[in-house]
Amino acid sequence: MNLIAVSSHQPVTAEDGCQDPVLLNDWHVVGYSTDFVAGTVYPVRLLERELIVWRSADGQVHVWEDLCIHRGARLSKGWISNDAVVCPYHGWNYDSSGACTLMPAAPDEPPMKKAKAFPYGAVERYGFVWTCLGQPETDIPVFPEWVDEAFMKVHSGPYVYAANGFRAVENFIDASHFPFVHAGLNGVMDKPDRLEPYTVEEVDTGLRSSEVRVFQPWGDARGMPLVAFYTYHTFRPLVGYFSKRTQDADAQGQVVNDHSDTFTTLFTVQPVDAVNCIVRICAAMNVSPRPDPALVSSRADVVYGQDRGIVESQRPQRIPADLRYELHHRTDLMGQRYRSWLRNKGIRYGVI
Ligand code: FES
Ligand SMILES: [Fe+2]
Repeated sequence: MNLIAVSSHQPVTAEDGCQDPVLLNDWHVVGYSTDFVAGTVYPVRLLERELIVWRSADGQVHVWEDLCIHRGARLSKGWISNDAVVCPYHGWNYDSSGACTLMPAAPDEPPMKKAKAFPYGAVERYGFVWTCLGQPETDIPVFPEWVDEAFMKVHSGPYVYAANGFRAVENFIDASHFPFVHAGLNGVMDKPDRLEPYTVEEVDTGLRSSEVRVFQPWGDARGMPLVAFYTYHTFRPLVGYFSKRTQDADAQGQVVNDHSDTFTTLFTVQPVDAVNCIVRICAAMNVSPRPDPALVSSRADVVYGQDRGIVESQRPQRIPADLRYELHHRTDLMGQRYRSWLRNKGIRYGVI
């Protein structure tokens, strides 16, 4: 099977870095759409592979290997001219299809057919740029609230974790750390929530939990106490999601208004390598009145900053997908099932 088959030819550097077909054939976020403006070449790193992202004049975003086929120079050190990427070494021009259109040392000769860049799948969705280094086996996951105008959307991050991406996802689907890591915000350290039993099932869209109930003294950007019911979901190995149904509560955690609002989060992880990742999120909420987006984002900065401190401290850095390592309590069912799910998918990179 040719795993790097988006382009008909392979860069010689394709043997470097991650060789895990499950991850190579999946979609990964490499930035926010707003990160990439036409006229500039941007370097990004994904699964130990060096890539460039650039946007052509027609608005289309492109993700290529950061490599010129001529002598292996990095295209990220080049520039854009006439809507083409110019290699910084001998000035070869590559248009948005990846074809070389000009070799300045022989301007009257048509470039050889093999003179091409190495493009990968590139799609913009939910305000993110996604790429796939191999043959995508599934579409980009559906973020259900994205098309619902009743939901206000707020992007936050990027959060750069010196940590394993799977450890970051598992932290995102873990409710029992709230009173300790997010004391005063998502939980109360002196009065940790007792987590009732919940279930986890594998569905078409990934792994999904039943509702997990917690009390949150500062449950969202409105600064109100909430009783929250989390439904956790892992759409892909490195894409998580939760939907949080909330009820207004008093400071003691008693529900005072049982109408339900919903706050959801799409959690994306760019695996830079096995022990470094970049988290980017998009929250969607139908709460009323609508909070100031800047407050939503600054609250996310606090919460994910707290998470980062813990996740970066975890050892071993690579997540143990083998359940014989570490301990699994019934309250960790979502994380436990996530690890088994990774293992059953055959993932070998970034796990032990
Ligand atoms: S290495 Fe790119 S033009 Fe020569
Ligand atoms: Fe957290």
